Amino acid sequence: MPRTVVVTGGAGGIGRAVAEAFLARNDRVILADRATDRAKDVADRIGADHMALDVADAASVDAAIAELEHRFGTVDVLVNNAGLSGGAGALVELDVATFDNCVRVNFRGTFLMTRAVGAHMLTQGVRGAIVNISSIGARQPTPGLGHYEATKAAVDALTRSAAIELAPHGIRVNAVAPGPVVTPMTERLTTNPEARRRWEARIPLGTIAQVTDIAPAVAFLASDEARHITGAVLQVDGGQLLT
Ligand SMILES: NC(=O)c1ccc[n+]([C@@H]2O[C@H](COP(=O)([O-])OP(=O)(O)OC[C@H]3O[C@@H](n4cnc5c(N)ncnc54)[C@H](O)[C@@H]3O)[C@@H](O)[C@H]2O)c1
Repeated sequence: MPRTVVVTGGAGGIGRAVAEAFLARNDRVILADRATDRAKDVADRIGADHMALDVADAASVDAAIAELEHRFGTVDVLVNNAGLSGGAGALVELDVATFDNCVRVNFRGTFLMTRAVGAHMLTQGVRGAIVNISSIGARQPTPGLGHYEATKAAVDALTRSAAIELAPHGIRVNAVAPGPVVTPMTERLTTNPEARRRWEARIPLGTIAQVTDIAPAVAFLASDEARHITGAVLQVDGGQLLT
């Protein structure tokens, strides 16, 4: 039975691969992104639907839920993937606007979407699944990314809180925590051979991930095969957390 899957930030690197993983399982996928032109373009290419959404804006989230209910009925799976770092810098130097932007999208956005889609699932009686995209940075610091990593630690905490609150209703909430992945977000790192070599030296399996290394874990956690898993944060990091 095809499910309706919403992937926030679905026009981006990991989001697109996640969408393709669900499409391969014959699910209907909606790419919900604030980059609407790119979302349409990607959706057309891969056979998904798309819609405008700014996860950090409560009014946009409310409008998106209304549109989803109108166009698709119920939502079975939410992937909270939209995220950014917005820049880098030591905590003592980081400008406050960069911090606020990162908190708004990664932390507030994950909260707003979990709140809205969770309430939708409860009202509609959907025994659904939510998968958040965290980062191993929540558990292992890299200098200069403290603001970003703190938002992902908050995402991990939201994952556990939502999991315990929604479990009685048969709704599961988990997270996937990637290490570095080749996407537009990491372009500066992955296209600089010296920076890439330094990063890969931290990864026991020896390479930075491709988006297709991450997407299957997301599809699995949202699937019936993971029916007894909730509140988990699954690292997909080539072993980096071991070091
Ligand atoms: N690339 C990595 O190395 C890496 C590692 C760990 C975790 N992650 C996480 O994976 C997720 C996807 O990252 P990516 O690397 O694919 O980045 P990306 O920049 O390729 O894609 C991010 C997408 O999110 C969208 N977006 C940003 N703000 C939004 C908002 N307010 N509302 C709706 N959409 C918004 C962007 O338009 C873009 O399409 C993020 O949460 C990121 O933190 C990435």
